Amino acid sequence: MRILVTGGAGFIGSTFVRRRLRSTGDSIVVLDALTYAGNITNLAEVEEDATLRARFRFVRGDIADAAVVRSLIGEIDAVVNFAAESHVDRSILEADAFLRTGVIGVHVLLDAVRAASATRVDRPIRFVQVSTDEVYGAVDVGASVETDPLVPRSPYAAAKAAGDLLVGAYHVTHGTDVVITRGANTYGPHQHPEKLIPLFITNAIDDLPVPIYGDGLQERDWLYVDDHADAVGFVLDRGQSGQAYNVPGGGPVTNREVTRAILATVGKPWSLARSVPDRPGHDRRYAMDGSKIEHLGWHAKVAWDAGLPATIAWFVANRDWWARVRSGEWNDYYERQYGRRLADSVPA
Ligand code: NAD
Ligand code: DAU
Repeated sequence: MRILVTGGAGFIGSTFVRRRLRSTGDSIVVLDALTYAGNITNLAEVEEDATLRARFRFVRGDIADAAVVRSLIGEIDAVVNFAAESHVDRSILEADAFLRTGVIGVHVLLDAVRAASATRVDRPIRFVQVSTDEVYGAVDVGASVETDPLVPRSPYAAAKAAGDLLVGAYHVTHGTDVVITRGANTYGPHQHPEKLIPLFITNAIDDLPVPIYGDGLQERDWLYVDDHADAVGFVLDRGQSGQAYNVPGGGPVTNREVTRAILATVGKPWSLARSVPDRPGHDRRYAMDGSKIEHLGWHAKVAWDAGLPATIAWFVANRDWWARVRSGEWNDYYERQYGRRLADSVPA
C-alpha cells in the first residue's frame, strides 16, 4: 500500500510511520507543516535505515494547501490524517490554527481524496481520520460508544468534532471510503512536553514545580503510543467503511495518581506538586467503550504499569530531544500558560 501520512512528524504520526514501515512493505509519504509541534528528528530512525528510507519520502507542507495535497494524492492508496493542533490549553489561548487545520485542512484532504477516487472507481482511496475521545465531551459516568452525540467542550475538541462530521458527510454524500479512530489520552516517547505526562517528567527531572490544575481528581484513560499507532493501522486495514472506532486505554487514572507515579519513579519529592488555578471548561473525565474495535480483533498490549516507566526511561535518556523542544517559542508559551498560575499556586 502507498500511504500519505499527514502530521507524520508529530508524536503519534511518527510512531505510526516508524512502526508501519518496519512491520509491512508499505511506502509512506509524510506531509507535515512542521509547526512548533512537528519534529523532523522523530523520523531520524527512518532516514538512517536504508531499507526503510527506500520506501519513505518527507514533504513539508500544509494540509489546507489544496495544490500541495493534490500533487501528492495521485500515487496514493490511503490517507491517514494525524495533522492537527493538538493541545487543549493552546486552543484556549488562541483557536485560529485549530480551525484552519481541523476543519479546512480536513475538508481539503477529503476533497482531494474524493476527486482522485472518482478517476479510479475500482480502487478508491481510503481516508482515515485520527480523532479523539474529546469529541464526546466529559463523561461523568459510564463510557462513550461510537453512536453517542458529539458534545465537544474546548475549541480543540470542537475543531476535531467538526472534522469528524465532515468525514461522515463525505461518506454519505460522495460515497468516499472513510474510517475514523477515536483514541484516548496517549503517552510515550517523543510526546511534546506541553502535555501532562512529558511536562511533569521533564519538570521533575529538573526539580521544577509540576502544576496540577484544580483538585487534580480529573480522570484520563491512558493509552500507550505504540498501541494507538497500531490501532490506527488496524482500522486502516480492517475497519468498515463509514464507521468510527473507539480506541480506549487501560482505564481511568486521576491526574494526582499520574503525578504521584511520575515523582516516585523519577525519585523526586511530592513537594514539587503545586495546585494551580483550573483549566477553563476542564473536562472532568473521559471513558470509552472499546467493544467495537475489540470485536474486530484489536486490543491494547501495553499496560500502564509498563508504559509509564518505559516513557520515563526514554525522557531520562533523551534530554537532547526535549531540551531542544523546551527552548525558543517554548519559553513564551510556558510563561503565558504557567507564569500567573504558578505565582498563585499552593502545595497540592
Ligand atoms: P502532535 O501535536 O504531536 O503532532 C501534530 C503534527 O501535525 C505535527 O507534526 C504538526 O507539525 C502537524 N501539523 C499541524 N498542522 C498541520 C497542517 N496544517 N498541515 C500539516 N501538518 C500539520 O499531535 P499528536 O499528539 O501526535 O496527535 C496526532 C493526532 O491524534 C491529532 O489529530 C490528535 O487530535 C489526535 N489524538 C491525539 C491524542 C493524544 O493524546 N496526543 C489522543 C487522541 C487523538
Ligand atoms: O483525550 C485525548 C486527548 O488527550 C487528545 O485529543 C489531545 O490531543 C491531548 O492533548 C489530550 O488532551 P488532554 O487535555 O486530556 O491532555 P493534557 O495532557 O493537556 O492534560 C491531561 C490532564 O492533565 C487534563 O486533565 C489536564 C491536566 N493537566 C495538564 C497540564 C498540561 C494539568 O493538571 N496540568 C498541566 O500542566
